[in-house]
Amino acid sequence: MSTTITKTMPAWLNDSYGPAAGTRRETVATPQPGRGEVLLRIRATALNAADVRLMLGDPLLMRLVFGLRRPKQPIRGNDVAGTVVAVGEDVDAALIGDEVVAELDSGGLAAYAVARADRLVTRPEALAPEAAATLPISGGTAVQALDAAGISTGQRVLVIGASGGVGTFVVQLAALRGAEVWATCGQPNRALVESLGATRTFDYRTTDLSTLPGSFDAIIEIAGSRPLRRLKRLLTPTGVVAMVGGDGGHVLGPIPRILRGLLLSIGSRRSIRMVAAVAKRDVNEQLVALALAGRITPVIERTLPWDAAVEGLARLESGHTVGKVVVLGMP
Ligand SMILES: NC(=O)c1ccc[n+]([C@@H]2O[C@H](COP(=O)([O-])OP(=O)(O)OC[C@H]3O[C@@H](n4cnc5c(N)ncnc54)[C@H](OP(=O)(O)O)[C@@H]3O)[C@@H](O)[C@H]2O)c1
Repeated sequence: MSTTITKTMPAWLNDSYGPAAGTRRETVATPQPGRGEVLLRIRATALNAADVRLMLGDPLLMRLVFGLRRPKQPIRGNDVAGTVVAVGEDVDAALIGDEVVAELDSGGLAAYAVARADRLVTRPEALAPEAAATLPISGGTAVQALDAAGISTGQRVLVIGASGGVGTFVVQLAALRGAEVWATCGQPNRALVESLGATRTFDYRTTDLSTLPGSFDAIIEIAGSRPLRRLKRLLTPTGVVAMVGGDGGHVLGPIPRILRGLLLSIGSRRSIRMVAAVAKRDVNEQLVALALAGRITPVIERTLPWDAAVEGLARLESGHTVGKVVVLGMP
């Protein structure tokens, strides 16, 4: 292990559940990489809707796992680009100095964070840290949603909630697969979503989806939570609804909706499938390669300096980000 790393480090803490305004900058112990882990010096952290859910402790059910009264892990931020500065047991010391992209379990809004060595993907120099950091959760979820829906060339897909972190990747990746992409988003974001590859866009505030002409091989539902029975009616006879996100209840979150989806799929050729994305190194490698080749472009609403991390969390909390919000590492 390297000896040049300080024993303490600055970090942004959410040590009680609540809005972004409660986030505090503190000095905490620098984490130590354990077996199979590395220590990263953080260069950029991309924020996700999950950071806000964990910050708020909403839905309440999640507190059973993540901490009953306060978050067990108080530092938000899973998606990072960083430099390997130390390695734990059973990890090749030659990794030290490598520039990588990683999906952490938590802890990205800090000077240093521990990452699993088997999840690291090399970050090519030509891909900026702030762009690379956006890829794992939003891009990875987009890939896994399209896989769950079985999207391929010539299919017509409806993306509900196309302008956020996940949606901007879903639209680009579905278009890359050769699908005809229709999408809903806010009126001001229609031009952006069309530039990403959607052939038709609709303002979700004024469009009744049941009036859309034609039917869909797949619907990727990212925001909004329209009644599932109505979404199912928009499908072709073997179509699929892939449920990624949307509004859930304050207590149980998406669970009642997932159960309804299962019930509605029984005995039907049209299915409703829940997407529960997990960290996949091979998917992250593909995303880095696609971004490097310019075949996908991370949409970044704002890149904030380290000192403005609270502003970043508050922006995510608003629910109206366009693409991603990234916080740069400590200078
Ligand atoms: N299942 C999984 O494994 C998984 C993984 C990652 C994320 N998720 C979930 O996916 C959801 C989206 O995540 P995200 O990172 O993309 O969030 P996000 O970036 O915060 O999404 C914000 C965007 O959603 C749009 N939006 C809000 N309500 C809408 C509606 N009714 N119809 C259409 N668009 C709407 C907003 O547009 P306006 O500003 O115009 O309102 C905004 O552009 C979250 O619920 C998250 O928890 C699930």
